[in-house]
Amino acid sequence: MVDTAPAPAGSSSAAASTPLPDPSVVPPVWGRITNLVVERGEGSWLITRDGERYLDYSSGIGVTNTGHAHPRVVAAIQAQAAKILHSQQNITYHEPGLRLYERLRHVLPPPAAGGEWGAFLSNSGAEAVEASVKLARVATGRPVILGFRYGYHGRTGQTMALTTAKDVYRGHFEPLPGSVYHTAYPYCYRWSGGAHAPDEGCVCDWEAQLDLTFHQFVYPEHVAAVIVEPVLGEGGYLVPPPRFLPRLREITRQHGILLIADEVQTGFGRTGELFAVRHWDVEPDILVMAKGIASGLPLSGIVAGAEVLAKLPPGSHGGTYGGNVVACAAANATLDVIEDEGLVANARERGAQFLAGLRALAPRYPAIGDVRGLGLMLALEFVKPGEGDGRVPDPDLAKRVQAEALRRKLIVLTAGTYVNVIRIIPPLVTTSDEVDLALRTLDESLAAAGA
Ligand SMILES: Cc1ncc(COP(=O)(O)O)c(C=O)c1O
Repeated sequence: MVDTAPAPAGSSSAAASTPLPDPSVVPPVWGRITNLVVERGEGSWLITRDGERYLDYSSGIGVTNTGHAHPRVVAAIQAQAAKILHSQQNITYHEPGLRLYERLRHVLPPPAAGGEWGAFLSNSGAEAVEASVKLARVATGRPVILGFRYGYHGRTGQTMALTTAKDVYRGHFEPLPGSVYHTAYPYCYRWSGGAHAPDEGCVCDWEAQLDLTFHQFVYPEHVAAVIVEPVLGEGGYLVPPPRFLPRLREITRQHGILLIADEVQTGFGRTGELFAVRHWDVEPDILVMAKGIASGLPLSGIVAGAEVLAKLPPGSHGGTYGGNVVACAAANATLDVIEDEGLVANARERGAQFLAGLRALAPRYPAIGDVRGLGLMLALEFVKPGEGDGRVPDPDLAKRVQAEALRRKLIVLTAGTYVNVIRIIPPLVTTSDEVDLALRTLDESLAAAGA
């Protein structure tokens, strides 16, 4: 149901008394997850026009890490907006931008090879991925970019070519840019005989597949960069086995290939480290960031060695709005909140609580094939018990669970190539009580959906 009803008597919402245009004004390309018309947000909660409160465990697809409308972020935006809204990066410097550029140089430990990190700011995740690809090609003089099956990097031309999470993201738009190949990501649940084993025992043969890719598709010395999501997002919330990233780092170094870590979804504390690569002590050559960086204002960026970054000649990349002054002010306040409120540690603790709760639920629901997650990036994969090898994807069930959760005022998303995964992305400010509430709600939703 579309929430266009007038506000109940006594509602504080003035906006709710004004009739809205019909939602059909929004084109269908924005595939719908709910029909809620939201008026405001507070921490983990979304409040609709008629005052209904929803626990938002989508975080606007992994964006509102500091919660909705964190007062410090809002105050920083308001203060900056009152001074200037647009101070174009080619034309002028601005204080919030200079401060943010400086801070982003320290989000990773100092480069192992010496020197310093540098940053580049743009608007969206896809735009930052585009920047990383251009930089990798210019820095290495090599043409090819290698991505992973199930990966998601955006929906612009170049990023569509890198994306294989789902057919709809690329299938209608051939021809796509070339010199892009894909190799196997370790999908432990599907490759390890049924038991999810993200540990040394995982039998994923991603390394053999990469070797095949080098022998069947492309010479490694032609590869500029490998782009990887350290925890794979849109394609199914896949947590790789512990040796994956360190070994990938070794292989890429052996061949002079740059490693691009796409941390658009995993960044800014989401997995219980400021950036997920830190779980495995892996140093990427280029770190891509967006989403959580500015608590909802459009901003993105890359971090790379300052000398590497300087290889992009002046004017060869950029954009009118990149590094917008108000978005930079929001990002500085976001980083302050993440630090001052210990949100990375909270992501670790609430994530462990949530994962333990989901694992406790799973034995009661035969259709839950796998439970996985890292920090506050959590997933349930649904299968049809008794059919095929016991791991036949069940997208209808995932949809029903999502709908039952929404009926109970909990917002969760789906993921995965077969859309049979429920992903749970709470804000990093979420509390222990809210996690318990979400677990109870999911339990009821699983039962109601017939899991
Ligand atoms: C890993 C990853 N990379 C890139 C993107 C694209 O970001 P945006 O939607 O801001 O273009 C996303 C968005 O979900 C993502 O999850």
